[in-house]
Amino acid sequence: MDRTKVDQIIHEVVAKYFRKPLIVAGNWKMNMTVREGLDFLEKLGSTEGNVLIFPPYTTLAVLAPEMKKRGILYGPQNFHYEDSGAFTGEISIPMIRELGCSFLLAGHSERRGYYNETDEALGKKVAKGIRSGFQVMLCIGESLEERRSGQWQRKLTEQIVLDLRKLEKEELDSILIAYEPIWAIGTGVSASLEEINETHSFLKMTMREMFGRDLPLLYGGSVNEKNAQEIGSCPYVDGFLIGGASLNPEKFRKIIEVSRGV
Ligand code: 13P
Repeated sequence: MDRTKVDQIIHEVVAKYFRKPLIVAGNWKMNMTVREGLDFLEKLGSTEGNVLIFPPYTTLAVLAPEMKKRGILYGPQNFHYEDSGAFTGEISIPMIRELGCSFLLAGHSERRGYYNETDEALGKKVAKGIRSGFQVMLCIGESLEERRSGQWQRKLTEQIVLDLRKLEKEELDSILIAYEPIWAIGTGVSASLEEINETHSFLKMTMREMFGRDLPLLYGGSVNEKNAQEIGSCPYVDGFLIGGASLNPEKFRKIIEVSRGV
């Protein structure tokens, strides 16, 4: 049997018998006023350490102590690599640190697509975030065209290489990758289980080849309370990054329950 196959079997056994609860991360994007956020937390209740929310900045500042009380980890959806200066509309690491954040979201496809966030800037951001003591969730993903033309492996590999290029090996401990196919975001139709399995096993293998180790790998793109169970059962899925369904406390709660049972 070839080495890749052996690796795959070992990984599947480990994933099946020694699995931690899956990570459940909510990206609220440009949704939730302070009042709506407080109401959401009230309905959600407390959690147990595997739950993470990325609210918009204004809401984040007010909700921070409320999330802490409920055992929710949190952070901003974006940040700058400089500590201060003439960067209108941006926020910096010292501002984020003051709020007690432990996570940072980086490279979401909406930021790459609508705001021209480049791999050049992301390389600097990721390094800055890690060296400032945060865990960084780096989003990667291919377009529909890249998926259909068979370019997805090249695209995903390129994003990992470029965005993590400034890190030392031990700094990878603080990185999580969220694979979000752009064509499955906000459409209500997630990637199929075959596509998720194929892509996640490719990414895990690529990371092992590149870094000699695995990094936690989340799936995002139309995850909801109905499909979380089967997506979460894929052996290479370590958690979810959720948009729409993370805005509804009942749906989000259901996904959290799933994350503890698969
Ligand atoms: P949806 O869950 O709404 O598809 O959004 C996914 C996403 O982009 C999370 O970052």
